[in-house]
Amino acid sequence: MLWLTAIFLCKIYASVGEIADIGTVPKGVNPTLYDSVEDSVIQLDETTFNDTVFCTGREDCSSYLVEFYSDWCGHCRSYAPVYKSFAKDIRGWNKVVKIAAMNCADPLNDVTCRANGILFFPYMKYFPRNSSDTFYGVKLRPYQSLAEMRDQLTQVILQDYAINRFDDWPNFDILGE
Ligand SMILES: *[C@@H]1O[C@H](CO)[C@@H](O)[C@H](O)[C@H]1NC(C)=O
Ligand SMILES: *[C@@H]1O[C@H](CO)[C@@H](O)[C@H](O)[C@H]1NC(C)=O
Repeated sequence: MLWLTAIFLCKIYASVGEIADIGTVPKGVNPTLYDSVEDSVIQLDETTFNDTVFCTGREDCSSYLVEFYSDWCGHCRSYAPVYKSFAKDIRGWNKVVKIAAMNCADPLNDVTCRANGILFFPYMKYFPRNSSDTFYGVKLRPYQSLAEMRDQLTQVILQDYAINRFDDWPNFDILGE
Protein backbone atom coordinates (compact mmCIF):
# COMPACT_ATOMS: atom_id res chain seq x y z
CA MET A 1 0.00 0.00 0.00
CA LEU A 2 2.72 2.39 1.04
CA TRP A 3 4.57 1.33 -2.04
CA LEU A 4 1.67 2.22 -4.31
CA THR A 5 1.30 5.59 -2.64
CA ALA A 6 4.97 6.26 -3.28
CA ILE A 7 4.60 5.46 -6.97
CA PHE A 8 1.55 7.63 -7.19
CA LEU A 9 3.31 10.59 -5.55
CA CYS A 10 6.30 10.19 -7.86
CA LYS A 11 4.00 10.40 -10.85
CA ILE A 12 2.39 13.60 -9.62
CA TYR A 13 5.79 15.05 -8.93
CA ALA A 14 7.07 14.15 -12.39
CA SER A 15 4.13 15.84 -14.06
CA VAL A 16 4.65 19.00 -12.02
CA GLY A 17 8.20 19.23 -13.33
CA GLU A 18 11.53 19.47 -11.69
CA ILE A 19 12.45 22.26 -9.35
CA ALA A 20 16.17 22.88 -9.01
CA ASP A 21 17.83 23.82 -5.75
CA ILE A 22 21.35 24.07 -4.43
CA GLY A 23 22.70 20.56 -4.89
CA THR A 24 20.81 19.85 -8.11
CA VAL A 25 23.16 18.58 -10.79
CA PRO A 26 22.20 20.20 -14.11
CA LYS A 27 21.63 18.08 -17.18
CA GLY A 28 23.63 18.71 -20.31
CA VAL A 29 26.94 17.79 -21.90
CA ASN A 30 29.18 20.80 -21.25
CA PRO A 31 31.18 21.28 -18.08
CA THR A 32 29.67 23.86 -15.72
CA LEU A 33 31.40 26.68 -13.87
CA TYR A 34 29.65 25.86 -10.60
CA ASP A 35 29.72 22.88 -8.32
CA SER A 36 26.52 21.43 -6.93
CA VAL A 37 28.27 20.36 -3.72
CA GLU A 38 30.55 23.30 -2.95
CA ASP A 39 28.66 26.32 -4.25
CA SER A 40 25.51 28.12 -3.12
CA VAL A 41 24.51 28.71 -6.75
CA ILE A 42 21.45 26.87 -8.07
CA GLN A 43 22.28 25.37 -11.45
CA LEU A 44 19.39 25.49 -13.89
CA ASP A 45 18.92 23.71 -17.19
CA GLU A 46 16.27 23.47 -19.89
CA THR A 47 14.25 20.96 -17.89
CA THR A 48 14.20 22.96 -14.64
CA PHE A 49 14.32 26.63 -15.63
CA ASN A 50 10.60 27.33 -16.08
CA ASP A 51 9.38 25.29 -13.14
CA THR A 52 11.97 26.76 -10.83
CA VAL A 53 11.94 30.42 -11.83
CA PHE A 54 8.30 30.85 -12.88
CA CYS A 55 6.79 29.54 -9.69
CA THR A 56 3.69 31.67 -9.28
CA GLY A 57 1.45 30.33 -6.55
CA ARG A 58 3.84 27.94 -4.86
CA GLU A 59 4.37 28.63 -1.19
CA ASP A 60 8.15 28.59 -1.39
CA CYS A 61 8.28 30.94 -4.38
CA SER A 62 11.04 33.50 -4.33
CA SER A 63 12.64 35.90 -6.74
CA TYR A 64 15.60 34.65 -8.74
CA LEU A 65 18.82 36.18 -9.90
CA VAL A 66 20.06 34.16 -12.86
CA GLU A 67 23.47 34.40 -14.47
CA PHE A 68 23.41 33.18 -18.06
CA TYR A 69 26.97 32.21 -18.89
CA SER A 70 29.04 30.22 -21.30
CA ASP A 71 31.53 27.74 -19.91
CA TRP A 72 34.16 28.69 -22.51
CA CYS A 73 33.95 32.47 -22.12
CA GLY A 74 36.89 34.06 -20.31
CA HIS A 75 34.82 36.77 -18.63
CA CYS A 76 32.47 34.13 -17.27
CA ARG A 77 35.35 32.06 -15.91
CA SER A 78 36.83 35.05 -14.14
CA TYR A 79 33.42 36.15 -12.89
CA ALA A 80 32.44 32.76 -11.46
CA PRO A 81 34.44 33.15 -8.18
CA VAL A 82 32.79 36.57 -7.60
CA TYR A 83 29.34 35.11 -8.21
CA LYS A 84 30.07 32.17 -5.89
CA SER A 85 31.13 34.53 -3.11
CA PHE A 86 28.08 36.68 -3.69
CA ALA A 87 25.76 33.65 -3.51
CA LYS A 88 27.40 32.60 -0.25
CA ASP A 89 27.35 36.14 1.12
CA ILE A 90 23.59 36.57 0.68
CA ARG A 91 22.51 33.01 1.43
CA GLY A 92 20.52 34.41 4.33
CA TRP A 93 18.27 36.27 1.84
CA ASN A 94 17.27 32.95 0.37
CA LYS A 95 13.56 33.15 1.25
CA VAL A 96 13.39 36.35 -0.77
CA VAL A 97 15.83 35.79 -3.59
CA LYS A 98 17.75 32.77 -4.83
CA ILE A 99 20.96 32.86 -6.81
CA ALA A 100 21.09 30.73 -9.93
CA ALA A 101 23.09 30.16 -13.10
CA MET A 102 22.60 28.51 -16.47
CA ASN A 103 25.19 27.43 -19.04
CA CYS A 104 24.08 28.79 -22.41
CA ALA A 105 26.98 27.10 -24.23
CA ASP A 106 25.28 23.80 -23.54
CA PRO A 107 23.11 22.87 -26.55
CA LEU A 108 20.49 21.49 -24.16
CA ASN A 109 19.74 25.03 -22.97
CA ASP A 110 19.45 26.71 -26.38
CA VAL A 111 15.73 27.38 -26.33
CA THR A 112 15.65 28.99 -22.88
CA CYS A 113 18.75 31.09 -23.56
CA ARG A 114 17.30 32.30 -26.84
CA ALA A 115 13.92 33.01 -25.21
CA ASN A 116 15.75 35.16 -22.66
CA GLY A 117 17.40 37.24 -25.38
CA ILE A 118 20.90 36.67 -24.09
CA LEU A 119 23.19 38.99 -26.05
CA PHE A 120 26.53 38.45 -24.34
CA PHE A 121 28.05 36.61 -21.38
CA PRO A 122 27.78 36.78 -18.50
CA TYR A 123 24.24 38.16 -18.72
CA MET A 124 22.35 38.66 -15.47
CA LYS A 125 18.61 38.85 -15.02
CA TYR A 126 16.46 39.35 -11.94
CA PHE A 127 13.11 37.58 -12.11
CA PRO A 128 10.57 39.04 -9.68
CA ARG A 129 8.84 36.45 -7.54
CA ASN A 130 5.64 36.47 -9.56
CA SER A 131 7.29 36.14 -12.95
CA SER A 132 5.49 33.82 -15.31
CA ASP A 133 7.51 34.48 -18.45
CA THR A 134 10.99 35.51 -19.58
CA PHE A 135 9.50 38.92 -20.35
CA TYR A 136 9.51 39.84 -16.63
CA GLY A 137 13.27 39.42 -16.24
CA VAL A 138 15.11 42.66 -15.44
CA LYS A 139 18.66 42.99 -16.73
CA LEU A 140 21.31 43.52 -14.05
CA ARG A 141 25.06 44.03 -14.27
CA PRO A 142 27.79 41.60 -13.29
CA TYR A 143 29.65 43.90 -10.90
CA GLN A 144 33.00 42.79 -9.55
CA SER A 145 32.35 43.99 -6.02
CA LEU A 146 29.96 42.23 -3.67
CA ALA A 147 28.81 45.57 -2.26
CA GLU A 148 27.71 46.77 -5.71
CA MET A 149 26.01 43.45 -6.38
CA ARG A 150 24.16 43.72 -3.07
CA ASP A 151 23.09 47.33 -3.74
CA GLN A 152 21.86 46.53 -7.21
CA LEU A 153 19.91 43.49 -6.03
CA THR A 154 18.42 45.43 -3.13
CA GLN A 155 17.08 48.04 -5.58
CA VAL A 156 15.17 45.50 -7.69
CA ILE A 157 13.89 43.65 -4.63
CA LEU A 158 12.53 46.92 -3.24
CA GLN A 159 10.76 47.61 -6.55
CA ASP A 160 9.31 44.10 -6.46
CA TYR A 161 8.21 44.60 -2.84
CA ALA A 162 6.65 47.99 -3.60
CA ILE A 163 4.41 46.32 -6.17
CA ASN A 164 3.63 42.98 -4.54
CA ARG A 165 4.10 43.44 -0.77
CA PHE A 166 4.20 39.70 -0.14
CA ASP A 167 3.08 39.02 3.48
CA ASP A 168 5.80 36.48 4.05
CA TRP A 169 8.62 38.82 3.02
CA PRO A 170 10.30 40.95 5.66
CA ASN A 171 9.02 44.50 5.87
CA PHE A 172 11.39 46.45 3.63
CA ASP A 173 9.81 49.85 4.24
CA ILE A 174 12.64 50.79 6.57
CA LEU A 175 15.08 50.41 3.66
CA GLY A 176 13.06 52.38 1.12
CA GLU A 177 13.24 56.10 0.33
C1 LIG B 1 1.71 37.41 -6.78
O1 LIG B 1 1.72 36.60 -5.62
C2 LIG B 1 0.83 36.98 -4.63
C3 LIG B 1 1.00 36.13 -3.39
O2 LIG B 1 2.05 35.22 -3.47
C4 LIG B 1 -0.59 36.92 -5.17
O3 LIG B 1 -1.49 37.33 -4.18
C5 LIG B 1 -0.71 37.78 -6.40
O4 LIG B 1 -1.97 37.65 -6.97
C6 LIG B 1 0.35 37.44 -7.42
N1 LIG B 1 0.30 38.37 -8.53
C7 LIG B 1 0.34 37.98 -9.79
C8 LIG B 1 0.36 39.08 -10.82
O5 LIG B 1 0.37 36.81 -10.12
C1 LIG C 1 9.30 27.83 -20.85
O1 LIG C 1 8.41 28.90 -20.89
C2 LIG C 1 8.44 29.64 -22.09
C3 LIG C 1 7.51 30.81 -21.92
O2 LIG C 1 8.07 31.74 -21.06
C4 LIG C 1 8.04 28.74 -23.25
O3 LIG C 1 8.11 29.45 -24.45
C5 LIG C 1 8.97 27.54 -23.30
O4 LIG C 1 8.57 26.65 -24.29
C6 LIG C 1 9.02 26.83 -21.96
N1 LIG C 1 10.06 25.81 -22.00
C7 LIG C 1 9.84 24.56 -21.62
C8 LIG C 1 11.02 23.65 -21.70
O5 LIG C 1 8.76 24.18 -21.21
